Amino acid sequence: MNPKWFLIKTLPFFFLFQFSFSSDSITPQSSIKDGDVVISTGKTFALGFFSPTNSKLRYVGVWYYQVPEQTVVWVANRESPINNTSGVLSIDSGGNLVLHGQNQTDPVWSSNTSVPHSTSSFARLYDSGNLVLLQDDDSPLWQSFDYPTNNLVPFMPLGLNQSSGLNRFLTSWKSESDPGVGDYSLRIDPSGFPQLIFYRGSVIIWRAGSWTGLGWSGMPEMSQDTIFNNSFVNNDEEITFRVTYMNNASMVLGRVAVNETGFMQRYAWNPQEQRWILARSAPAEDCDKYRFCGPNSNCNKIQSYSQQFQCYCLPGFEPKSPQNWNLQDGSDGCIQKPNASICQSGEGFVMLEHVKVPDTAAASVDMSLGLKQCEEKCLGNCSCRGYANAYSGNNGGTGCLTWYGDMVDIRTFTDAGQDFYVRVDAADLARYRKKGSLNKKLLVAIVIVSFAVLFSMAASAFWFSRKIRRVRKSSLSLSLTANSMHFEESLDERNAELPLFDFGTIAEATNNFSTDNKLGQGGFGLVYKGSLKGKAVAIKRLSKSSGQGIEEFKNEITLIAKLQHRNLVRVLGCCVEKEEKMLIYEYLPNKSLDSFIFGKETSLPTPKQPAFIIRKTNQADETGSTSEGTASINEVTITIPQGR
Ligand SMILES: *[C@@H]1O[C@H](CO)[C@@H](O)[C@H](O)[C@H]1NC(C)=O
Ligand SMILES: *[C@@H]1O[C@H](CO)[C@@H](O)[C@H](O)[C@H]1NC(C)=O
Ligand SMILES: *[C@@H]1O[C@H](CO)[C@@H](O)[C@H](O)[C@H]1NC(C)=O
Ligand SMILES: *[C@@H]1O[C@H](CO)[C@@H](O)[C@H](O)[C@H]1NC(C)=O
Ligand SMILES: *[C@@H]1O[C@H](CO)[C@@H](O)[C@H](O)[C@H]1NC(C)=O
Ligand SMILES: *[C@@H]1O[C@H](CO)[C@@H](O)[C@H](O)[C@H]1NC(C)=O
Ligand SMILES: *[C@@H]1O[C@H](CO)[C@@H](O)[C@H](O)[C@H]1NC(C)=O
Ligand SMILES: *[C@@H]1O[C@H](CO)[C@@H](O)[C@H](O)[C@H]1NC(C)=O
Ligand SMILES: *[C@@H]1O[C@H](CO)[C@@H](O)[C@H](O)[C@H]1NC(C)=O
Ligand SMILES: *[C@@H]1O[C@H](CO)[C@@H](O)[C@H](O)[C@H]1NC(C)=O
Repeated sequence: MNPKWFLIKTLPFFFLFQFSFSSDSITPQSSIKDGDVVISTGKTFALGFFSPTNSKLRYVGVWYYQVPEQTVVWVANRESPINNTSGVLSIDSGGNLVLHGQNQTDPVWSSNTSVPHSTSSFARLYDSGNLVLLQDDDSPLWQSFDYPTNNLVPFMPLGLNQSSGLNRFLTSWKSESDPGVGDYSLRIDPSGFPQLIFYRGSVIIWRAGSWTGLGWSGMPEMSQDTIFNNSFVNNDEEITFRVTYMNNASMVLGRVAVNETGFMQRYAWNPQEQRWILARSAPAEDCDKYRFCGPNSNCNKIQSYSQQFQCYCLPGFEPKSPQNWNLQDGSDGCIQKPNASICQSGEGFVMLEHVKVPDTAAASVDMSLGLKQCEEKCLGNCSCRGYANAYSGNNGGTGCLTWYGDMVDIRTFTDAGQDFYVRVDAADLARYRKKGSLNKKLLVAIVIVSFAVLFSMAASAFWFSRKIRRVRKSSLSLSLTANSMHFEESLDERNAELPLFDFGTIAEATNNFSTDNKLGQGGFGLVYKGSLKGKAVAIKRLSKSSGQGIEEFKNEITLIAKLQHRNLVRVLGCCVEKEEKMLIYEYLPNKSLDSFIFGKETSLPTPKQPAFIIRKTNQADETGSTSEGTASINEVTITIPQGR
C-alpha cells in the first residue's frame, strides 16, 4: 500500500470527524492527524500531536489525559519534528506505525520493526501509557515502553532484556522546548552487582545504587513506599526495575523523570491540589554527588554538621593528599595506611552503619551467603577490603557483597541505609573497638555534660551570691542530715527567709495533701496549694521516685536560697523528713505554679532536677538590665541575677 495514496484516501474521512476522534487504537483504516487524539480505555493517557513550551514544532507524544498541565511522558519523533500541522500517524503498508509530514515520501518516524504478515497490524494505547503495535494474535511487535524518553511510569520496565540485548533507559530532553535526546540519562548498569545510575553523557553524576531488596541503596526512602510497589528482577531473562501499585484500586499517578538540568525527580499527582508533588529529587546534596569524597572515604554530613568538610577516611585509611584534605578538598580520597598489617593475625572489621554501600560495579556477589559467611569469605582473600549484605531486611540481611579495589561513593544517611564492614588491621581494630564503646557511652556523656553545665551555672550563681554576701559580711552555714535540715544563720534578713518546716505543719497547711489543693503535677512530683500562717503558698512535694537524692536536694536549696530575685518565684522554706522532700514557694494567684514552671504542658519532659523557677515577667525590660547570663532548660528560662 502506498502511504501517500493511503493518506489522501483517508483524509476526507477525518475532516468530517475533526477533534472528535477518541478511539484507543490506530488501524490501517483509521490513522490520526494533527489535532486528533487517541485515548486509552480508562482515560488515563492520551496520544496525539503537541508542541513543547516555546516551540511551534510538532511532535507525537503520550500525555496524561486528565492532568490539566500537559505532562508528556513519551515522544515518538523526538529528534525529527514536523514543521507544521500537516503530520499524520498511521499504519503503513508494511504494518509499521509511521509518522509522515506533508509532501514527504519517507516517514519522519517509524516503529521500524519487522512485521511478519503486513496486513493485520494495529496500534493500541493502553491505560499504562504503553503504545503497542499488535497483530491478531495479540503478541506485541513493538511497544513504546521499550523506547522510553524522559519519564518512567508505573508498569514500565527500566533495564535489560538479556535475550534481546535491549536496554531501556531514560534520557532527558535537550531543553524545555526540545524533546530531543539531552545529556542526562538514568540507566541500569548490569556490571558487578547491578545498579541504577544517573549519567551526564558517560560520566556518572549520581548513583542511585544497588538493589537492597526494598529499594535502591541511594534512595532508602523507597522502602517506606506505601502506594507504589518498587520491584527489581535480576535473572537470566532480564535485569529490570519496575514500579507498580501496592493496590491497583488506589491508582495514584506517579512518574520518575530525568529533567533537562540534570536531576532525577520522583513525582506523584495530587488530584485535590491538581499538581505534581515532588517526592524526591537527586542529586540533592554534596554527599549525593558521585565520588564527592574520592575513593575509600565516607561522605558524612551528619558527623560534620558543625564544620563544613564532610569527608572522612574509612577506618584504616588516611588522606591521599593531606594538603588538599586540610584545605577541605576531599576529591583525592584516601589510601590504606602504608604500615597497615592487613591479612595478619588480629585483624577484623569495623562497621559503618546507615550507609550507602560503595559502588558495586566491581564488587563480587554471592546471594547464597549470610553475613557471617560473608565475613569469612572476605577474611579468606587478602585483597578483600570490605563486605556487606547485598539485601537488607528487617530481620537481618541476606546475600554477600565483597569489595577488592578502591571503595568509592560511600555516604552516611541519618537513619536509613545499610551496614558496611571495612577490613582493618589489629591496631586499628583495637582503636575502633575503644571508640565504639565510647560512642555507646555518648548518651551518658551528654547527660553528664548537661549536669556539668547546670553545675557551672549553679557555681556562678553561688559566686555571685558569695560576692553579695562578702559585701554584706554575712554568713550562711547549712548542715543537713538525712532526716532534718537546720540552718544556722547569722542575723541576715536574707537567710531568715528560708525556714525549715516540719512535715506535720505542711500536711496541715495542705489539708493533708488533699487533691482539692492540688495545683498540678510534673515529672518530679506534685504541687499543692496551701496556707501557712495565713499566707498562700505553693508546695512542691518531690516524688519519692524523682531520683533526687538528699545531696541534689541540698544543692537545689542552697542555690534557690541564694537566688532570691524579683524575677524568681520566692522560696519561703523547705521540709525534709524521712523520704519527704518539699519546697515551699510563694503562691502566685491566677495561674498554677506548674504552668509557670513548665508552661501549659504538664506532660513536658521534666528535668531530673528542677533547678530554677522564674516568675513570668516581661523579659525585654526586666532581664536585659539585670541579668548576667541566661540559659534554658525545657523552656524554663534561667536568669542568674546580678547583685543589686
Ligand atoms: C522543516 O523546515 C526546515 C526549514 O525551515 C527544513 O529544513 C526541514 O526539512 C523541515 N522539516 C520537515 C519535517 O518538513
Ligand atoms: C508543511 O510544511 C511542508 C514542508 O516543510 C510544506 O511542504 C507543506 O506545504 C506545509 N503544509 C502546511 C499545511 O503548511
Ligand atoms: C504538497 O502536496 C500538496 C498536495 O498534497 C500539493 O498541492 C503541494 O503542491 C505540495 N507542495 C510541495 C512543495 O511539494
Ligand atoms: C529503521 O532501522 C534501520 C536499521 O535498523 C535504520 O537504518 C533506519 O534508519 C531506520 N528507519 C527509521 C525511519 O528509523
Ligand atoms: C525479551 O525479548 C525477547 C525477544 O524480543 C522476548 O521474546 C521476551 O519476551 C523478552 N523478555 C522479557 C522479560 O521482556
Ligand atoms: C510487587 O511487585 C512484585 C513484582 O511484580 C510482586 O512479586 C509482588 O508481589 C508485588 N507486591 C505487592 C505488595 O503487590
Ligand atoms: C494491576 O494492573 C496491572 C495493569 O493493568 C495488571 O497487569 C495487574 O495484573 C493488576 N494487578 C492486580 C492485582 O489486579
Ligand atoms: C530540574 O529539577 C531540579 C530539582 O528538582 C529543579 O530545581 C530544576 O528547576 C528542574 N529543571 C527544570 C528545567 O525543570
Ligand atoms: C602506623 O603509622 C602511624 C603514623 O602514620 C602510627 O600512628 C601507627 O602507630 C603505626 N601503626 C603501626 C602498626 O605501626
Ligand atoms: C581474591 O579475590 C580476587 C577478586 O575476586 C580474585 O581475583 C582472587 O583470585 C582471589 N584470591 C584468592 C586467593 O582467592
